[in-house]
Order: sequence, then C-alpha cells, then structure tokens
Amino acid sequence: MRSLKSILFIAGFLASSLVFANDKVEAGRQLFEQNCAVCHGGTGGMNMSKRLAPPMMGVRMHYIKKYPDKESFVGAIVSWVEKPEKDKSLIKMAVRKFGLMPLIPVTQDDVENIAEYIFEGKLDRPEGFDEHVKKMHGGKGHKHGGEGHDHSDGKKGDCGGMKH
Ligand code: HEC
Repeated sequence: MRSLKSILFIAGFLASSLVFANDKVEAGRQLFEQNCAVCHGGTGGMNMSKRLAPPMMGVRMHYIKKYPDKESFVGAIVSWVEKPEKDKSLIKMAVRKFGLMPLIPVTQDDVENIAEYIFEGKLDRPEGFDEHVKKMHGGKGHKHGGEGHDHSDGKKGDCGGMKH
C-alpha cells in the first residue's frame, strides 16, 4: 500500500512540475507581450525600416547558434536585458541599424520566464521571415558559414530585408 502511495505521490509531483514548466513559458509569453513585443513582435513584418527592432524570431536564431542549450541561452538573454552593451551584442548589424537597445525595467525573474518562452515557446513568425533567412544565410546549408552571420560586413544588397 505504502509503495502505491509513494508512486501516486511521485506521479502527482511530476505532473505538477510539468504544469509548472508550461506555466513558466506561458507567463513568459505574457511578459514578452507586455515588455518586449512593441519592439520585437511579429507585427511589422520584415521591413526593417518600419520596425523598432529585429523580430524575436531572428534574435532567437542568432542566440541559439551560440547558446544551443536552454541554460546558457536563458543566461545570455538575462545578461543582455540586465545591461545591453555593444560588446555583448551578437547582432552588431542591429545595433548599427537601430541603435543600442534601451534598458527595459523588468525583474530578473520576469526576464528568465521571457527567455524560456523565447527558447521553447511559439514565437510570431513575421511575414517574409523565411525568405529573409534564406537570402541572408544561404538557407540551411549556411554557405558562407562561420562567424559571417552577424550581417556586419555591410555589403550592399547582402542584407536583404535589413535594407529596404
Ligand atoms: C524600445 C524597444 C525595445 C524593447 C521594448 C525591447 N527591445 Fe530588445 N532590442 C531593441 C533594439 C533596438 C535591439 C537591436 C539593437 C541591439 O542589439 O542593441 C534589441 C536587441 C535585443 C536582443 C539582441 C541583442 C544583441 O545585439 O545581441 C535581445 C536578446 C533583446 N533585444 C531582448 C529583449 C527582451 C527580452 C525584451 C523584453 C524584456 C526586449 N528586448 C525589449 C529594442 C527593444
């Protein structure tokens, strides 16, 4: 009897921690909408001259390449939002184009939830995003590989959506 009880206990515990994990992503989504989406949301499309900042789908892509596991990804986003600095930027082209991101008044707990949502939640995919990635990064093959992905070589026409 006792073991059945503890199995039920463990099952209950697992179920509640699963719900808890999803809650975090959902909380992160709401916090993202409130604190980040004005600038990083999907509406606004890929026309960078009409946007305030790159869409989060794109930011995520750059960050996940350097920080493929959740822990370091969340750490990098938290450190960025805590103090945006040019030296830390993974997307120097965006800093040049939009200027450095201002300090956003959010707590570290909130940014952790937001970062989890960015890592594993469903982000808005702005219209034209896939074409942009293909154009900029040569599709899945990453033809011009390596570090060349920060859009920073500034060659005309090379930056597709970022220019027009
Ligand atoms: C007022 C507009 C604005 C808001 C609100 C905003 N950002 Fe940004 N963000 C920017 C701009 C502009 C850039 C591009 C320039 C840069 O990288 O500093 C940027 C870039 C970023 C980057 C990439 C940094 C890099 O260069 O490597 C991350 C990550 C980021 N934002 C996260 C967030 C998160 C998370 C939130 C919400 C808590 C948020 N931002 C809210 C304007 C904003």
